[in-house]
Amino acid sequence: MKVGFVQNHPEFGNVQANLDRIEEMLAGKAADLFVLPELFSTGYRFKSMDEAHHYAELVPDGITSNFLLSLAKKNNTHFIAGLVEVEGDRIYNSSVILGPKGFVGRYRKIHLFDTEKSCFDAGTDVPPVFDLDGIKVGVMICFDWRFPETARSLALKGAEIIAHPSNLVLPHCPQAMITRCLENRIFAITADRVGEEKRIPGEKLTFIGQSQVVDPDGNILVRASETEEEVHIVDIDLEKARDKNLNPKNEIFKDRRPDLYC
Ligand code: ACM
Repeated sequence: MKVGFVQNHPEFGNVQANLDRIEEMLAGKAADLFVLPELFSTGYRFKSMDEAHHYAELVPDGITSNFLLSLAKKNNTHFIAGLVEVEGDRIYNSSVILGPKGFVGRYRKIHLFDTEKSCFDAGTDVPPVFDLDGIKVGVMICFDWRFPETARSLALKGAEIIAHPSNLVLPHCPQAMITRCLENRIFAITADRVGEEKRIPGEKLTFIGQSQVVDPDGNILVRASETEEEVHIVDIDLEKARDKNLNPKNEIFKDRRPDLYC
């Protein structure tokens, strides 16, 4: 199957322009699944929960989900992409999962990073694994990578691929995801953004790019630059993620010792 990511540079708050840019970047690009960054249509650094509320969307009835739904149908593809979600009086840093047949599901980030704690409510549901036409795709968002339990839980639930919308500001994630893939013998698609945000005086954020696809042996199949908008598509062989054997005597899930772990 073919999987890809978009690494974009959103303009904070200019949702329509950011969506238009994604459509432009994806013109003529074909894959079974595209992963887009965390909060890709709004930008990242909200000043408060009130401001996040202003940009928050119903899922799947908001502008970003509707845009992705129509592009998924037109291009016969699936998207996993980050947005600000509102439900009742709650605001979440969420990802939506959509395909040519419509809305598939959502995931609400459970590990909020730094100032996100003043802008979003933390998700309370177990990170999900979706069946996309027979392919098992788990979803986590950015800082979830820092908690190896997230990727492990997704892999134990059968994920063959982890889709990982991100807005990375710390340098370690691209290398750490290699370990997550080795530990679980899964593919991971991290879709990050580039550029800077200076929304709060004295608090410049620089996003590190380096979106990537990593395979179950820890090979980086493609890694984007630190500064440019890019789209990449690679062919992956899912059989690699379905085989958890390292050698005739070691099967990484069967060899676990949960009786000895805390
Ligand atoms: C992050 O979780 N966006 C750093």
